[in-house]
Amino acid sequence: MANINHHFLKLQSGYLFPEIGRRVAAFAAAHPEKAPHIIRCGIGDVTEPLPQVAIDAMHRAVDDQSRRETFHGYGPEQGYAWLREAIAEVSYRQRGIEVEADEIFVSDGAKCDTGNILDIFAHNNSIAIPDPVYPVYVDTNVMAGNTGCVRPDGSYEGLVYLPCTPENDFVPRIPAQHTDLIYLCFPNNPTGAVATYEQLKEWVDYALANDSILLYDGAYEAFITDEGIPSSIYAVPGARQCAIEFRSFSKQGGFTGVRCGYVVIPKELMGRDAAGNQVSVSSLWKRRTGTKFNGASYIVQRGAAALFTAEGQEQTRALIDYYLGNAALLRSACMSVGLRVWGGVNAPYIWVQTPAGWNSWDFFDKMLREVLVVVTPGAGFGAHGEGFFRISAFNSRSNVEEVCRRIKRLL
Ligand code: MLT
Repeated sequence: MANINHHFLKLQSGYLFPEIGRRVAAFAAAHPEKAPHIIRCGIGDVTEPLPQVAIDAMHRAVDDQSRRETFHGYGPEQGYAWLREAIAEVSYRQRGIEVEADEIFVSDGAKCDTGNILDIFAHNNSIAIPDPVYPVYVDTNVMAGNTGCVRPDGSYEGLVYLPCTPENDFVPRIPAQHTDLIYLCFPNNPTGAVATYEQLKEWVDYALANDSILLYDGAYEAFITDEGIPSSIYAVPGARQCAIEFRSFSKQGGFTGVRCGYVVIPKELMGRDAAGNQVSVSSLWKRRTGTKFNGASYIVQRGAAALFTAEGQEQTRALIDYYLGNAALLRSACMSVGLRVWGGVNAPYIWVQTPAGWNSWDFFDKMLREVLVVVTPGAGFGAHGEGFFRISAFNSRSNVEEVCRRIKRLL
């Protein structure tokens, strides 16, 4: 019998969102008459149709595949140059941020990228993780063998947790100790917090002083409406020497079901081998990508590239504004019944403190049972998420309005 990767056995029962799905399915099976009325504001999955420019571009790309002259087989592993150029130009250079097309690696999504990146790092790094956090960062480190065992509160031995609390506005403070890899995510999943330039600069300064690498998840960047909030870690001088940025079309273009994202690794970014020699991180990622990935599909990349046209930018803005409108409604509904809320302004997630005496999962059950609304229990994002829940603004306007009425009825 083959030996398995025993680190998988350290994982807690199920990934958060399937676990929520299981509980909701069990409730629906037990109450079939209520099932059609359940509104899901748990997983942040988009609900609205793709921007028309992306649909048109993908239709044309399908047609390309029907003719020998325009047919595309395997594409470049790093992504087509026309997409990488469009990303570099519109997402970075036009905002005064230096990123070159050959520093961009197109992929099938940021979830995979944030997990896969661990392939190129050693197992003896000290790893800092905000708490609460997108569970993928933790679980992929567990799978890679970078942690010890799980503790009763769900945290793992061997990770450095950075508490995110109302006291620090859910922006983690710089740790006192040295760490090698630090995960940051802004606008934040799950809390909806954003970091100011000064806060990001502190992290960049820390990383430069400690020779660390920031793994900066910018999947929700498109939701930043406040011009004072940096859209990229590379807005901070020095970040090119110490940060990898992950981006996604999932929320920006409604691509959760289409699948496309990208990683930015500046040429200056270096790691160290066992002998202490500097090694280019980008060249390792390129090597890894060439071996394990054959590129996102041509059709999908054509759809993604269309988002960077002037029309695409306009349609994307409308989509984001729609979800931000939902977020504003959810925020004010929660506030009107006296709940404390964060996020939902430059982010599609509203982070809410449970009413006194309620823990996250019990309040999740109460909302499901009493008003048929699915949220995400904060405890599922880490020990410091206990006592909170997350509402996703990804839904139709009519569902969001109904959720607001139900919240007011519940409390
Ligand atoms: C979430 O709900 O946290 C996200 O949709 C999950 C993801 O992007 O993988």
